[in-house]
Amino acid sequence: MADHLVLLAPSSNRVYAGAAEVLMTAELAIMLGGEAAVERISLAGIGYLALAIDVLDEATAAALGRLSGAYAVFRREGDHLRPLPLARPDRFDDDLVTIPKYPGKTNEQFTRLLVNVTLASLTRVTDGPLTVLDPMCGRGTTLSTALVLGHDAAGVESDLKAVEAYAAFLKTYLRRHRLKHSADLTPVRREGRSLGRRLDVVVTPEGGGRQQGLTVFSGDTRQSAALHGRRRFDAVVVDAPYGIVHGSQATATKRDRSAAGLLSEALGVWAGQLKTGGALGLSWNTYGLSRERLTSLAEQAGLRPLDSTPYLSFGHRVDSSIHRDVLVAVKA
Ligand SMILES: C[S@@+](CC[C@H](N)C(=O)[O-])C[C@H]1O[C@@H](n2cnc3c(N)ncnc32)[C@H](O)[C@@H]1O
Repeated sequence: MADHLVLLAPSSNRVYAGAAEVLMTAELAIMLGGEAAVERISLAGIGYLALAIDVLDEATAAALGRLSGAYAVFRREGDHLRPLPLARPDRFDDDLVTIPKYPGKTNEQFTRLLVNVTLASLTRVTDGPLTVLDPMCGRGTTLSTALVLGHDAAGVESDLKAVEAYAAFLKTYLRRHRLKHSADLTPVRREGRSLGRRLDVVVTPEGGGRQQGLTVFSGDTRQSAALHGRRRFDAVVVDAPYGIVHGSQATATKRDRSAAGLLSEALGVWAGQLKTGGALGLSWNTYGLSRERLTSLAEQAGLRPLDSTPYLSFGHRVDSSIHRDVLVAVKA
C-alpha cells in the first residue's frame, strides 16, 4: 500500500504536462536515491506519485519540497487523504524564473528537474550550498533556478544580447523586490582586446541568510574554462541548443542542425571545470545526436554516464522536430 501521495502542479505547457508525471517519477526516484519505490497511481481520475513509506522523514520531505512540480502532499489513511505541509526551500519567489518570456527559453519545470537530478547525482559529500555552472545559459533559466534553490550560479552564453537582457532583468527584479544586492555588467578585456562582458551579482534573499553569487560571461562555451579561470563547480547543468534557431530563417540554414560537433568539443572543457565527484546534467535533442553517441562523447571526456533505470526515463517529445532527453554523468 502506498502511504504518501504527491499531487503534481499542472504545467502551463500542455506538451510538457503530458510527459510531466513520468519525468517526475524518475526525478523523485533519483532524488530519493532508490530508498523508496515511486509509482504513478490514479485516484478518482486524478494522477498522483505514490511513495510506499510509513513516515515522511526529513530528507524525503525536503526532496518533495524541491521536486520540480510538487503541489501538495497527502498521507493516505484508509479512504481519506490527510494533507501534510510541503516545505519549499525556495529562497526567492518563483517569478524570478517565470517572469522572463522569450523564444528559446527552456521550460521552467523541466529546468528545475534537470537541476534536481544533477545535484542528486553528485558522488562527493556535500553539505550546504553548491555551485552550478550553465555553460550555455541563454537568459538564465538554470541560473535563476539554482539561486531559487539556494545555490551559487555561473554561466557562459555566446549571445551577448541574451547576457545583456538577463542583466537588465535581474537588476530590475532585484530592485523591485527590494533585495539587498549588487549587480554589475562590465567589459572583459585581455591584453587590450575586448572579449565581451561579464555580469556579477551578489544578493541576499528576502528574510536574510547567506549571500548568493552569480557570474556570467558572454563568450563561447568552449572558452568556459578560460573565462571562469580556476573556479571549479559541483554541477554543470545545460540545455544544449536543439539545432533549431528561434529567429530568422536565414541564419537557421547556416547552423549545424545537431549540437554534436559543439558538444564533442565542449564536454571535455566542462568536465575539467567539475570538482571530483561533481555531476553533469545535459538535455539535448536526440534527433541530431543519439544517446549512444552522446554517452560515448561523455566517456571520452572522462565522465561516467549514469544508466540505471530512472536515468533512462527522461526522453520526451517537445515538438515535431525536437525529442528531448537527459544525460547525467559524474566525474569520478
Ligand atoms: C536551448 S538554449 C538554452 C536556453 C536557456 N536554458 C534559457 O532558458 O534561456 C541554448 C543556448 O546555447 C547558446 N549557445 C549556442 N552555441 C553556443 C556556444 N558555442 N557557446 C555558448 N553558448 C552557445 C545559445 O545562444 C542558446 O542561448
